[in-house]
Amino acid sequence: MNPQRRLTVRVARIWRQTPHILAFELTHPWGRPLPGYEAGAHIDVHMPGGFSRQYSLALAPPAAAPVMSYLIGVKREAASRGGSASMHERVRTGDLLAVSAPRNTFPLCPQAAQHLLLAGGIGITPLLAMAQALAARGANFRLCVFARSREHLAFADALRAPALAPRLRLHLDQGEAAERIDLHALLAERAPGAQLYLCGPGGFMQAVRDAARHWPEDALHAEYFAAPADADQSAGQPFTLRLAQRGISVPVAADQSAVDALRQVGIDIPVSCQQGLCGSCVVPGDGAGAEHHDFCLTASERQTRLALCCARAKGQELVLQL
Ligand code: FES
Repeated sequence: MNPQRRLTVRVARIWRQTPHILAFELTHPWGRPLPGYEAGAHIDVHMPGGFSRQYSLALAPPAAAPVMSYLIGVKREAASRGGSASMHERVRTGDLLAVSAPRNTFPLCPQAAQHLLLAGGIGITPLLAMAQALAARGANFRLCVFARSREHLAFADALRAPALAPRLRLHLDQGEAAERIDLHALLAERAPGAQLYLCGPGGFMQAVRDAARHWPEDALHAEYFAAPADADQSAGQPFTLRLAQRGISVPVAADQSAVDALRQVGIDIPVSCQQGLCGSCVVPGDGAGAEHHDFCLTASERQTRLALCCARAKGQELVLQL
């Protein structure tokens, strides 16, 4: 299904997970199946006030049955720009919301010998689905969840399920020494074929990346909530986009994104986050000739694909397979 297509869903249930996190169960308004997805996928939620935000789907899809609901967790951010506040304060059970079809920019590596999943706070949502999917297929995995305290642990019931509990390690900031995980010790050695998946707030992501500096870039898979504060996604030098399949060239000004330049000539590239996070704007092209400023493509994907909302040419021209 085209992930840009909007669906209407009903808010079937809202319930509190932690002092700052609510869970929302979304269903088809007439009880029909929803588009399927893979663990790690997210949806765009269009909410009251005109806000749109991406939320990961928190449960693995059923293996042999239609998807009848989507579950998301929404943290009320203290510095909310409106999105999480709208979900917490304006959305009620029974409301209809527009959402995108699920899109997965954070997939599991099917061939990995071992999976290490690190979740910080609300970052548990995609990793819970991934852990459930791995447990269902009997894969070798560990799930490490970092929370401030047990009171701040979201989806605790799902984490206690027999399929996950033996694979779970909890880190509680306010817990005893035995309830802490030393990231450097955890990541000191990489088991052969191990893949590392991380999702959480900016400080957590940086701490994991620092502790995993010696891991190969292609073994790290990260889902960011927002571009890191030090991300350089600003404008740069002007360049030209060459659209190989159309046989045309489009100039991109220094203060313009490639997406905006293409829109000016009538070519609409779908966008959502416009921060290099969601993968909506990824197109095929000469990735080796690009400066990549996204957080959704791996090093090998960047060879042949670009997130156009923030990619720029290394030189004077960037070739796209469009
Ligand atoms: S619009 Fe989200 S990655 Fe470009």
